[in-house]
Amino acid sequence: MSHKSAKDFFAPLAVGAPAPLREIPARPSRAIHFFDPSNEKMAAKVPGMIGTVDVLLGNLEDAIKADNKVAAREGLVKIAESTDFGPTQLWTRINSLDSPWVLDDLTTLVPAIGDKLDVIMVPKVQGAEDIQYVDRLLAQLEAKADLDRPILVHAILETARGVANVEEICGASPRMQGLSLGPADLAADRKMKTTRVGGGHPGYLVRQDPPKDELGVSRIEAPRATYQQDLWHYTIAKMVDACAMHGIYPYYGPFGDIADVVACEDQFRNAFLLGCVGTWSLHPKQIAIANKVFSPSVEDIAHARRVVAAMGDGTGAVMIDGKMEDDASLKQCLVLVELAEKLAE
Ligand code: GLV
Ligand code: MG
Repeated sequence: MSHKSAKDFFAPLAVGAPAPLREIPARPSRAIHFFDPSNEKMAAKVPGMIGTVDVLLGNLEDAIKADNKVAAREGLVKIAESTDFGPTQLWTRINSLDSPWVLDDLTTLVPAIGDKLDVIMVPKVQGAEDIQYVDRLLAQLEAKADLDRPILVHAILETARGVANVEEICGASPRMQGLSLGPADLAADRKMKTTRVGGGHPGYLVRQDPPKDELGVSRIEAPRATYQQDLWHYTIAKMVDACAMHGIYPYYGPFGDIADVVACEDQFRNAFLLGCVGTWSLHPKQIAIANKVFSPSVEDIAHARRVVAAMGDGTGAVMIDGKMEDDASLKQCLVLVELAEKLAE
């Protein structure tokens, strides 16, 4: 049997070396649906979800009780070995790098089901060194298991230090597939005063200016509209820029208020408009929301195709429905057309 060397996968990048821009697998991942592999009832539903969701993720980290960590790991191995995932990707979220479980997660999963795992999500990533550690370990385990396809890595942005280091995290390894926002851990780490898992907050708002009376005095007691702001705008925008710079994918993350499907859709749409390609799903009903929101609408695709057709060789400017379109808006339209084509494949 010919064994691959760890070097055949990915040599760790020299410190400070720019990461190569590369094509990462373009399979869609609008919804990353989390399941608890230690929960037999939940695990039994996994085969029935294949084909209805882009990614199924066996969660080993937070939300899995300490006493169930081994059962979750073993449950994931069992499901992966006995299931053909077809068009659906299989991901896992391993325990954090400072936990007592992570080494066993990696040394168990890669030899057992490394051929089935598409992406490993690494939580609480603080800097490039965390990714380089996982990259190196994966290369060794993959070589030992004689795997011929490298497992990709996805980092969760959920510490203040991680946000500060987001660009180096994205470029830390050619395995980097993408980043997700982890709003709950990030809020705690930053000492934000919200107890919600993602989403907005009614206290984070701006208020309309007060009306003035006939003497020009502001009537601050008058009723005034308030506008809720997005707590996560800054971090998502920063994450999207870092991902675009390194050619990897940005994702929203968890939206914990499962019952509020309307606010969930709004939050997902904000992320889509800002550049994210997908999000997490914590309940089957969030899959449908994500599939809808992270696919361009029929109207947007039709408009984008009209602009592409009207722009001919791609230079100059044209007027469509009273609006100016040029080389730059053509590029915007191509983003939507290319996404629609990828999703239709
Ligand atoms: C997800 O892991 C989060 O902390 O929000
Ligand atoms: Mg977290």
